[in-house]
Amino acid sequence: MKIVNCKTNHMTNPLGFHMEKLVFSYTVEDAAGKFQDLARIVVSQNADCSNPVFDSGMRSDIDSLAFSLDLELKPYTRYYWTVTVRTDAGEEAESEVNWFETAKMDDPWQAKWITCDSTNPRHPIFSKQLDITDVGEARLYICGLGLYETYIDGEKIGDEHLTPYCNNYLKWLQYQTYDVTEQLQNGKKLEVLLGNGWYKGRYSFDPRRNQKPYYGNTWKLIAELRVTHADGSIQVIPTDESWSVSRSKITASSIYDGEQVDATLPDEPPQAASACTEELPPLHARLSTPVCVRKTLHPIELIHTPSGETVLDLGQNMAGIFRLRVHEPKGTQIHLWFGEILQEGNFYNGNLRSAKAEYLYISDGKETVIEPYFTFYGYRYVKIEGAQDLKKDDFCGLVLYSEIPKIGTMKTGSALVNRLVQNVEWGQRGNFIDIPTDCPQRDERMGFTGDSQIFCPTACYQTDCLAFFRKYLHDLQTEQEALDGAVPGVVPSVGIHDSCAGWGDAACIIPWNLYLFYGDKSILEEQFDSMKAWVDYLAKVDGDDHGWRNVHQNGDWLALDNLKDGVAATAGATDTGFIASVYYALSTDLVAKAAAVIGKADEAKAYAALHEKIMQDVRDEYFSPNGRCCINTQTALAMTLYYHLLEHDERNGEALQKKFKDNDNKLQTGFLGTPILCGALSESGMNDLAYELLLNEDYPGWLYEVKMGATTVWERWNGLLPDGRISSTDMNSFNHYAFGAIVEWMYRYCAGIHPLPEAPGFKKILLKPEINYQLKSLQAEYESAAGTYRSAWNVLDENHVEFSFSIPFGCEARLVLPHTDMSPQTLQAGEYHFSYQTDKPLRRTWSTHDTIEELLENPKTRAVLASTVPGSDRVPSSMHKQSFRSLFLQIGYPGAKDMLDTLDAKLAKVGAW
Ligand code: BGC
Repeated sequence: MKIVNCKTNHMTNPLGFHMEKLVFSYTVEDAAGKFQDLARIVVSQNADCSNPVFDSGMRSDIDSLAFSLDLELKPYTRYYWTVTVRTDAGEEAESEVNWFETAKMDDPWQAKWITCDSTNPRHPIFSKQLDITDVGEARLYICGLGLYETYIDGEKIGDEHLTPYCNNYLKWLQYQTYDVTEQLQNGKKLEVLLGNGWYKGRYSFDPRRNQKPYYGNTWKLIAELRVTHADGSIQVIPTDESWSVSRSKITASSIYDGEQVDATLPDEPPQAASACTEELPPLHARLSTPVCVRKTLHPIELIHTPSGETVLDLGQNMAGIFRLRVHEPKGTQIHLWFGEILQEGNFYNGNLRSAKAEYLYISDGKETVIEPYFTFYGYRYVKIEGAQDLKKDDFCGLVLYSEIPKIGTMKTGSALVNRLVQNVEWGQRGNFIDIPTDCPQRDERMGFTGDSQIFCPTACYQTDCLAFFRKYLHDLQTEQEALDGAVPGVVPSVGIHDSCAGWGDAACIIPWNLYLFYGDKSILEEQFDSMKAWVDYLAKVDGDDHGWRNVHQNGDWLALDNLKDGVAATAGATDTGFIASVYYALSTDLVAKAAAVIGKADEAKAYAALHEKIMQDVRDEYFSPNGRCCINTQTALAMTLYYHLLEHDERNGEALQKKFKDNDNKLQTGFLGTPILCGALSESGMNDLAYELLLNEDYPGWLYEVKMGATTVWERWNGLLPDGRISSTDMNSFNHYAFGAIVEWMYRYCAGIHPLPEAPGFKKILLKPEINYQLKSLQAEYESAAGTYRSAWNVLDENHVEFSFSIPFGCEARLVLPHTDMSPQTLQAGEYHFSYQTDKPLRRTWSTHDTIEELLENPKTRAVLASTVPGSDRVPSSMHKQSFRSLFLQIGYPGAKDMLDTLDAKLAKVGAW
């Protein structure tokens, strides 16, 4: 037995993070027992956990998902902790020693903000000569604006990029803490290089704002080097006017436009730093998890394009920077451009809009390895000019993303689906650079609230991301404070304050989802005011006449069902008032539920009543008295079913099925409909149709993109046309994770791993896999907050299937198997295997013995009929209940026997489900 995944506030050994609350979590593996009987948590300031400052003693109430501890913490202090678990089988184990370290907490800064001439384009290097001996421990507390990198004697401190990260800089500034004990032993010089970033560079898609900095115009730095000498005395070296400023060779840096370095520039004489006179928002210990180079990609091909360019192909669309070895004569300009696709074999970056996404290096004649400091690119292809005899190995792509450990894996019997899953994982990597962004390449890269709530459950299946989202939610809440509870479409808002349904609702949906996945109610406690403020804001706007329905709404963004002159209008065809009211109801429900979880009974009651009222309003306005949804779109019907807008709803299920039938079983949904579409189908007895949508290889569908060579998820269903041409350039990213939300459905329904709100954090799950003959097999592994679940199935033949599951220690699964009369059962920790004959054939076969109705219902069989027996699709509906064969034999159709045999041969090949 061993204890693993020991986390403090959902991070492993966090250094210098903001710790409003202290929450420990862990999981148990390889135990003979099934449940935790007792546990003990010990916290100490000593690495051997002696003299504890807290000792729970062996207790039966220690929650492995979230043991919350009210401990008065001291600043600048490392705490160590262990957990011991005894199981119901009497065995006992103790974890390794874990730690967390506080930052400055409320201790005032001795350092001053310092600045320099910020009109000089050469990026500044602030420095301080050091004369420190006898270093016991040393920490650096630091924030530099826009972005900073720190060096001791030329060696970079830490492995993070893009610090101090992206947040609402008007409200709070994050500082990081580094352990510099080692580097300081003989360190003589501390240097901090500053760049522009989100703070001082252009950032925002709004043309009124994106040409100039929104948050600040000057470079600034604050830092304290705190040394604890061997004798216990403390020395602090703060930033002040004694620091000097020299100039680097970086002459331009921008999140969107890239970076320029002129290595030929002469050194400039250093100047003294000056004290900053500007009033700055409060400094706050970091919440952002580290952005690091987490993968290195080597080019798969060096291409000489038809138009004569030199282009490297990384084989994978990604976000990050690069490393390039160059050795060119002095003055040579080495120029790089980044793009996601090729067009007619040539380099292409027209879809990046105004983002220049380039890199320019002017060589000083020396051999060097270049790597950008203060930008990142979303790219697969890089065009390079100025480097003679370039070889593939001179270049590598450095993939940057936040710390989001991978915890989910999914493999199926389809290579295309497997590639889709990988694409969604890459989509997350590319868009989890400190904030959840819409895309990493063009002139946006912003924290769109809608996109992030849509993708959040998928992110939680794929990765451990509570700490990542906690920072985003903090930012969201700070934006709301100035907006009377409204939640902007993007967070940080960069001054764009419009709110709309499905986007602003991120305020409620994300915290609830995190609670569901992690079972830690502290996230609800933290976000409750924000959740409530959003719903209160909606209530105000909605007033007595449903004003929220009339506000400008994004709607079912990028749906395909609202064609105007052959081009789909971005809002889709689903009534935006309906969407607005349904989301209003959903958010209100979540406020009520969150209130109940955190013990606010009165609020729980009040918001539950408001929820019921909004639901009634929705029914009154958008449903006929007999319960027909009056908004006849795939998305509205899917929302009706998935969100249980009506209690007993068969007719809207039938309506959705018909809607698909009328559209050849092709989807038309946008950002809001797509994530719930397959779930709505699986829940309503149309699981086969859900799989058909997943497995459809034609436009529009997930596998269309995969077949077109996508390595991430596209923003638009038709990003590329079948001939490989880009469909439009104004809003067409090839790395947009929203439609990747299908992966949530795959973990929940295909693998059957459903979280349950009554036992959040996967302590108890519903295990209800939905199988499919065509997909053949699936293996999913999910390291949930409570432990690792495995769910696998394998279709052996048309009538036989086998399953294997593992349920982690301390957990329970309510198992419901498909196509069997076996009753549901409860599984406890352990391994399970089932194999049985299904109660109906798994493969739907077709023949002329089927009724005409059945054959006409399915688009594939309908097409076979139409091509083999022209006119057969016009048989009067009064005859539809007869079998095709009996009708055609009855009417004495010439050559009926042969025709029926030919038809049977063709129908046998359809065998879709
Ligand atoms: C973004 C989207 C976003 C949308 C809505 C787009 O520009 O890329 O993902 O949700 O705008 O405003």
